[in-house]
Amino acid sequence: MLQKKKTEDVISFDNVSLSFGPDNKIFSNLDIIIPKGSFHFLTGPSGAGKSTFLKMVYLSQHQTAGSVFLFARNTLHINHSEIPYIRRKIGVVFQDFRLIPTLNILDNVALPLRVRGVETRKARSQAAELLDWVGLEDAMQRSPLTLSGGQQQRVAIARAVIGRPEILLADEPTGNVDDEIALKLLHLFEELHKVGTTVIVATHNRSLPHTFHHPEIFLNQGTGILIPPSSVPVFRNREGK
Ligand SMILES: Nc1ncnc2c1ncn2[C@@H]1O[C@H](COP(=O)(O)OP(=O)(O)O)[C@@H](O)[C@H]1O
Ligand SMILES: [Mg+2]
Repeated sequence: MLQKKKTEDVISFDNVSLSFGPDNKIFSNLDIIIPKGSFHFLTGPSGAGKSTFLKMVYLSQHQTAGSVFLFARNTLHINHSEIPYIRRKIGVVFQDFRLIPTLNILDNVALPLRVRGVETRKARSQAAELLDWVGLEDAMQRSPLTLSGGQQQRVAIARAVIGRPEILLADEPTGNVDDEIALKLLHLFEELHKVGTTVIVATHNRSLPHTFHHPEIFLNQGTGILIPPSSVPVFRNREGK
């Protein structure tokens, strides 16, 4: 690949391979660089390794060969005790949401602020603002168990962004919501990107990179290809505004 590694790269995969057994090779010699503040879509067919790629960035899956760098650290040299601190800089929307069933949705969203020591009232007030924004203002006291998949997804997104993470990882964030909400969520990611967040959105929907004019990392059969944004952005005028 022609990209050159720089110190401001926030994530880089250097000749990375991953196998879950002799007949289950997921990645072969993957070289991918994610510069700080960039926005990438991670695409590829089902089973291509999109979720696994995000797990590697989130330090919940290690490669079997090669090196992964996160915030300029080789992930193999990160101590177990450091992982929670590093993860605080990463907002993540898992494909299966992973909300906490014993907390209502207001406290689920407030949690990243609470673990950083923000006082309950302030954390809840910010969480309420975000829940209002994602259209769940009437559901704040409910248990996540009572919500639909699309509603849980919106809670998971609010929780991922509340701490203004340096990196936002979203795994199929538009998978369970209707088109209008999907667009709204992607515009929220755009806003975060504009204030400097590095964003990676995994999606099987290959029209999104064109609609949002961001590069695409296309995973397929163990390899990753970087596809630059299309030259005709859909949501911008000729001056690029
Ligand atoms: N812990 C694991 N053990 C064995 N196989 C796994 C494990 N995690 C993922 N896989 C396999 O890796 C492949 C990629 O999975 P995944 O990352 O979920 O793909 P995608 O998100 O693109 O649909 C799949 O074939 C999946 O079965
Ligand atoms: Mg997946």
